[in-house]
Amino acid sequence: MKDVNALIDPHRDRFLSELLTLLSFPSVSNDADRKDDVCRTASWLSSHLRGIGLQSEVMATAGHPVVFAQRLERADLPTVLVYGHYDVQPVDPLDEWLSPPFAPEIRDGKIFARGATDDKGQAFAHVAAIDALLRSEERLPVNIKLLIEGEEEIGSPSLHPFLTAHKDLLAADLVVVSDTSMFAADTPSLCYGLRGLVYCEVHVQGPTKDLHSGQFGGAVENPINALATIIAGLKDKDHRITIPGFYDDVRELPADERAALSHLPGTAEELRKQLGVPRLAGEAGYDENEWRWTRPTLDVNGIWGGFMGAGAKTVIPARAGAKISMRIVPNQDPEKIARLFEEHVVRLCPPTVRLTVLQAHSAPWALLPRDHPAMSAARTAVRIGFGKEPVLTLEGGSIPVVQAFEEVLGLRTLLIGFGLPDDGAHSPNEKLDLDHFYRGIATVAALYRELGGAGR
Ligand code: BES
Ligand code: ZN
Repeated sequence: MKDVNALIDPHRDRFLSELLTLLSFPSVSNDADRKDDVCRTASWLSSHLRGIGLQSEVMATAGHPVVFAQRLERADLPTVLVYGHYDVQPVDPLDEWLSPPFAPEIRDGKIFARGATDDKGQAFAHVAAIDALLRSEERLPVNIKLLIEGEEEIGSPSLHPFLTAHKDLLAADLVVVSDTSMFAADTPSLCYGLRGLVYCEVHVQGPTKDLHSGQFGGAVENPINALATIIAGLKDKDHRITIPGFYDDVRELPADERAALSHLPGTAEELRKQLGVPRLAGEAGYDENEWRWTRPTLDVNGIWGGFMGAGAKTVIPARAGAKISMRIVPNQDPEKIARLFEEHVVRLCPPTVRLTVLQAHSAPWALLPRDHPAMSAARTAVRIGFGKEPVLTLEGGSIPVVQAFEEVLGLRTLLIGFGLPDDGAHSPNEKLDLDHFYRGIATVAALYRELGGAGR
């Protein structure tokens, strides 16, 4: 049996150029004008998967299509369901990109493009590993099913019904997802939990139209001021969220888990420097990893209203609004948190304006057993691919479908990501280190072998 690196070596250039093709599709899922691009991405991916020896089809959903591919080798081998997403986040602010987001460019050993790390590059590592194994051995060490969706970045609204409708097709022994980051470049990691998300919009309506602030200012509520009052009332100066009942179901970490996380390398000062802030800001009594991974948050993602042009305009705006999200943790319930949020916003809103609270989407948190057998297979695979023992971490981001795999298909998920914290997911100049792409492919090939019992 060839060493995984030897399997991959002959195909390095080809894998890279295929990934660059995938990255050049502008598959922004939240942009209605990109619908055709999203569909073209799914078609390209599906025909590529057919080309490397899988059965593959583009399957319709109520939203963007899902690419489903499989190769069933033998009934006595375990079946691995690999999940990833081919959709990407919007690219704004566009003028901060050094190269166009959908014209991938390699600089300094890194591929720069929207989706490079989140998640096209990481999902494609699986495709490349399958390709390399098939070319060298003409078979795979496990049965493989690939589910690559186009709506992850908008909360995977179609995936729960898709899983329910295709339970038999998706039957497997384990889900594997590469859509997280490693702890640091010199510290490979495996992830055993994710935060969830509740995303809302708050709209405040004042007068029916913009007014002269001299003529009417002082007699009507300014909707931006009212919105600012609401937002200011959602957190206190100690960074605690003030919504009554918000923390009721938050799991306090068991001492052993807390100790393990506190022993991870890295310091708050390093994080502060990396992020370029004068000081980090988090709840008293917790460290920087707990702030990002195990504690819930409330953040304004965007805010609008009034005059934003150059110079000054004296105006009382008619309306204002904000997009506000909360990262939730075990054992908070997204529906309950959404309700508590709305009730509190209603309480905070002055009676002098009209208020609407909209729920955008939500995602449950995920917590996976640290002692699952797949974890030891993954540990070996990371050792082979990255030459180092991985540490165990949590992540603060969300992958909405992980909970659904458990609920609908009864499957545990292994989160094995190859990105880096400075990859700039959702930011300008998103990148993936080429070295991590190739090591990721090797790790995945080793993982399949381990899971199939062919590792030893
Ligand atoms: N790849 C991320 C999830 C992620 C982010 C994992 C950071 C670990 C660290 C994923 O593509 C993502 O961005 N998810 C969204 C989900 C949301 C839209 C429901 C997120 O977390 O904002
Ligand atoms: Zn993302």
